[in-house]
This record gives sequence, C-alpha cells and structure tokens, in this order.
Amino acid sequence: MTKSIQAIRGMHDVLPDQSALWQFVERRIAAVLGGYGYREIRMPILEMTELFKRSIGEVTDIVEKEMYSFDDRNGDSLTLRPEGTAGCVRAAMEHGLLHNQIQRLWYQGPMFRHERPQKGRYRQFHQIGVETFGLSGPDIDAELILVTARIWKAIGIDGLELQLNTLGTTEERAAYRGELVGYFEAHADLLDDDSRRRLHSNPLRILDSKNAAMREMLDAAPTLTDHLGDESRAHFEFVCQALDDVGVPFTINPRLVRGLDYYSRTVFEWVTDRLGAQGTVCAGGRYDGLVPQLGGKPTPAVGFAMGLERLVAVIQEGDPRAGECAADLYLVLLGDAARREGLVLAEQVRDALPGLELVCNCGGGGVKAQFKRADRSGARFALVLGDTEIQEDRIVLKPLRSDDDQVSVRRDTLVDNLKERFAH
Ligand code: HAM
Repeated sequence: MTKSIQAIRGMHDVLPDQSALWQFVERRIAAVLGGYGYREIRMPILEMTELFKRSIGEVTDIVEKEMYSFDDRNGDSLTLRPEGTAGCVRAAMEHGLLHNQIQRLWYQGPMFRHERPQKGRYRQFHQIGVETFGLSGPDIDAELILVTARIWKAIGIDGLELQLNTLGTTEERAAYRGELVGYFEAHADLLDDDSRRRLHSNPLRILDSKNAAMREMLDAAPTLTDHLGDESRAHFEFVCQALDDVGVPFTINPRLVRGLDYYSRTVFEWVTDRLGAQGTVCAGGRYDGLVPQLGGKPTPAVGFAMGLERLVAVIQEGDPRAGECAADLYLVLLGDAARREGLVLAEQVRDALPGLELVCNCGGGGVKAQFKRADRSGARFALVLGDTEIQEDRIVLKPLRSDDDQVSVRRDTLVDNLKERFAH
C-alpha cells in the first residue's frame, strides 16, 4: 500500500472543531486594535533573505539556524518570514508610510522557524503583531502594553505576568557590552559552548541562558541599569509609572534581553507558567535603530507580537470546551418531495433570520440517520418536513436539547415562531 503523506513536522492543521476558537481570538484582538486606531497591513510571506539577516541580526538563533531559506528559480535567496517586524518595516519604507508620519499598524499570519518542535513551539506558527512608527516618547511604549492588557481581557485570559526591562540606547549598550565581555572573560571556565561562541558576537544573549550551571555566575554579572543615561532612565520610569497609574502590574526583569538584535530601550514579555517551557505568549519592545539599519531615515519604532497557538492553548487550558460551536437548527427531510422543498424552506428561513445557523440534511437517509446527524450538529431544534407536513402546509419543530414536546406549526407562522425562540 502507498504510504500516505503527512503534514510537515512542527506544522499543524487547525481542525474545524478548533477554528471557531481561533476566529474568536482573532476577531476580538482585531476589535481591540481597531479601538486604539491601529490599521491592518498585509505583507508577503516570502521576503529576500537579506532582509532578515540585516534586521534580526546575523548572530541570532533565528538567522543562524532557524530560517527556511532557499534559492528560487532566478537564483534569489528567499526566506519564509520567521517574524513580521522586518517585513512590516520593509513595506512601510517601500510605500512611503514613514515620512513625517505616525503609523499604528498591525498584521497577522503564519511565521516559520525551524526550531525543535515541542508543546507551544512549532515550525509554522501564527502571530498577530503590532508596529508603530514615528513616536519616540515612552507614552506609546506604555500604550502598547495597555493594548496587550486589554486584549487579555477581551479574550478572557487572566493570570499572565508582565516582565519589563530597558536595554538603553545603542551607545549605552556598547559601553555595557565592553564591561560584560570583561566579566565573562574572567569567568570563561564557567561558560558553556553556546555562550563561549556568543562571547564576542552577542554577549547580552548569554544573560538569557537557561543553563542552571551558569546561573550563579550570571546573577552576579554587571547589569545594564548602571550604564543607562538620564534620558533612558526617564523613559523607562515613565513607562513604569504609566502602568502603575492604569493599574497594570509588572515585574522588572533585568535579564530580559530578547532573542532579536533590533531592540533598544523598552522590552517586555507576557509569560505564563501554564504552558510548560514555552511560556511567553507575547513579546516586543522599542527598536529605534532598525529603520536606518535597513536604509531608511531615523524613525522611532516600537511593537510586539503574540503567538496565537499559545493564546489558544492558554484559553483551552482554562476551558477545554472553549470555542465549541453548535448549529441552531437542523432540517430533517423525509421523502423526495421534502428533499426538494427543503432547500426552498431553508433559504426562506435564512432570508428571514440571517444570523441563524441552519444545517440542511443533504444526501437523504432514514429518520434515524438524519436525527443522528441532527444531534451531532449540536442544533437546539430539528425542523422535520415529510410528505404529511407538505400536504398540510405545516412543519414539525422538535427540541433536541430538552424534554419539551415537539410541536407542529403552520408554515406561514414558522419564521415568527423561530424569531421568538431565538430572540437573544
Ligand atoms: P518573538 O519573541 O520572536 O518576537 O515572537 C513573539 C511571539 O511569537 C512569542 O512570544 C511567542 O508567543 C510566539 N512564537 C515565537 N516563536 C514561536 C514558535 N516557534 N512556536 C509558537 N509560537 C512562537 C518577534 O517575533 C518580534 N517580531 C516581536 C516584535 C514586534 N517586536 C517588535 N515588534
């Protein structure tokens, strides 16, 4: 027998019994973003490989080992986007959206990283991301975090922890970096292979190491806070104060450095302990240096992205039946005449009650089989049409989720009858 083809490892189908929850999450997030004046931008899934190398950083996990890159038929190196920020900046620059303008943009869609798959970590995953351009003050950093806090309320998630840090400016980080390298060199015997490799290319990332054997040494490492200038300090204090004012609790985590190179000043992550090792559901920060790095004029920028698989998992962890959906009505059609008449009736009901979900029995079948399907659809009522009903110009309405008796109603009163039953 020929072996059937399976999905690629780390890439998942969203099945019909899951998609309602996904749609709920996507719709609610879009509504919150719209309420703050953010507008959607849609970018291609493929970009030039160079774009990601120049933005995310040559010495990051993503660029070094996780990108799906290939040469196309013209010999151009293309990459399936591992994240959305780089493409969003590219698009905004290309279409002149950044020239003396303030932009509040959001996007959604699949991202691709060749990581080792595990719970909450996939090779194709989905993000909703937000990027703002043209605003350098800390108020927009705070607004973005408030947006995320409101999103958790809108999709019914609580108990996430907000971690916050500042990475200072490029210059402040450079001074700190020198001191940090000196410290790590003095403790070189304690560094693992990965950290030794990063020592001169990306020493800040060493702070983020999960290696328990290095914990003590990392805890005693110098912190960036001591190298911050007055402006960076004031910027960070404003963000913290604004969150206090609105009542959004947070923890300052001086070790939070993020896995992408483009950040400066504010960085943040929302984490949960309910998903095992992959507990970050949303992450972002300021990246004032990225636009010029990609050839544009200096443009302040800040944004974040959230992982939809992880948000859906958090919701389902609290309510395993979340998003289950059911039809309202199932139309049982007994006999040839009813099978024809049923399509007309179903359209009449849909015209009169556009919000209702009505599933029409297609494909015939006996009474038993049709009622089984009706039950599986989750419908509250079955409408039953047979030869007798057609002759008498009536229809039977049978409750499927209660012990109430079925009733036979005149066809011309059916719509009103349904309106009453489904008036929410
Ligand atoms: P990131 O931290 O790489 O940041 O990803 C953001 C979020 O995407 C993560 O917090 C996580 O929820 C989700 N995510 C990342 N990788 C995976 C994966 N392999 N499987 C499932 N979910 C995943 C960025 O991508 C930045 N572009 C965020 C940003 C926007 N910063 C500024 N603007």
